[in-house]
Amino acid sequence: MDTTGTIFMPPESSTIAGEVDAAFYFIYWASIVLFAIVVGFAALFVLKYRRKKRELTSGVAHNTKLEVAWTLIPTILIVIVFVMGFKGFIKMNVIPKDALEIKVTGQKWFWTFDYPEGVNTVNELVVPVDKAVALTMSSQDVIHSFFVPNFRIKMDVLPNRYSMTWFEATRPGVYDLFCTEFCGKGHSEMIGKVRVVNDREYEEWLEEAAFGGEGMSLEDYGAKLYVSKACVTCHSIDGRIGTGPTFAKVYGHSVRLADGREVMADENYIRKSILEPASEVVAGFQSVMPTYQGILKDREIDALVAFIKSLKDKEGP
Ligand code: CUA
Repeated sequence: MDTTGTIFMPPESSTIAGEVDAAFYFIYWASIVLFAIVVGFAALFVLKYRRKKRELTSGVAHNTKLEVAWTLIPTILIVIVFVMGFKGFIKMNVIPKDALEIKVTGQKWFWTFDYPEGVNTVNELVVPVDKAVALTMSSQDVIHSFFVPNFRIKMDVLPNRYSMTWFEATRPGVYDLFCTEFCGKGHSEMIGKVRVVNDREYEEWLEEAAFGGEGMSLEDYGAKLYVSKACVTCHSIDGRIGTGPTFAKVYGHSVRLADGREVMADENYIRKSILEPASEVVAGFQSVMPTYQGILKDREIDALVAFIKSLKDKEGP
């Protein structure tokens, strides 16, 4: 297995990657060799058969051996490419029966992953190594596309229907997850990670993910959720303006809304902004935040409120 990557491809890290790369490199090298042969002969003939005197060009009309060769060789190449592609396509589309099933939801502009054990994560998919993982994917809004270059898998994620893909990671590590369908202003920030761990680490992680912040202050738990639930993608905590308003100096201050109203940012305002973001949009921002209804538990909302509250006097950059 190629574990270092090449100029075209990152390292192979799934069971399908070798086959995808084999097909790619077969086509790549066949193209280079054929290009060299065709251009080489064309150049040679330009020199060899250029008109030197006032003579007629050759009267040769056809050559059976040559014609058979240039029909047969490309046909064989195409059959090889077809067989490689078809085998890979079947393998990519038949999900193994014992696969770990994870629900993937794409929305502007983050990914959520729901595990059979009842935990969910945002922008981080954690999976055990050497285990088939089946992804059932759908979108809450527009078309997104789930792409993990190291695994060589890419599949559109659509609203109103499910699409499926699967992979089996062969090496522990952290791999990039990209959205590869232009889905609006935050498309380029719709980036996640796939963390491949061994079985023991996976069990430990599941336990940790089910952790509800017990023994932690709400404020500290909120700081943790601010990153793990991807608030950080759009909301700064140092006064910088992002896709959404900063969390610094919000609590306890009055906020002007897009519809002209002015409201006091208290606990209920923050809670409502998390669960019904479209109801009170801050002036100067677009109503692009998705609802976190169903993603956050009550205690998690409490923690985020406490965290935002703790930033009420935070100075800007
Ligand atoms: Cu989601 Cu691009």
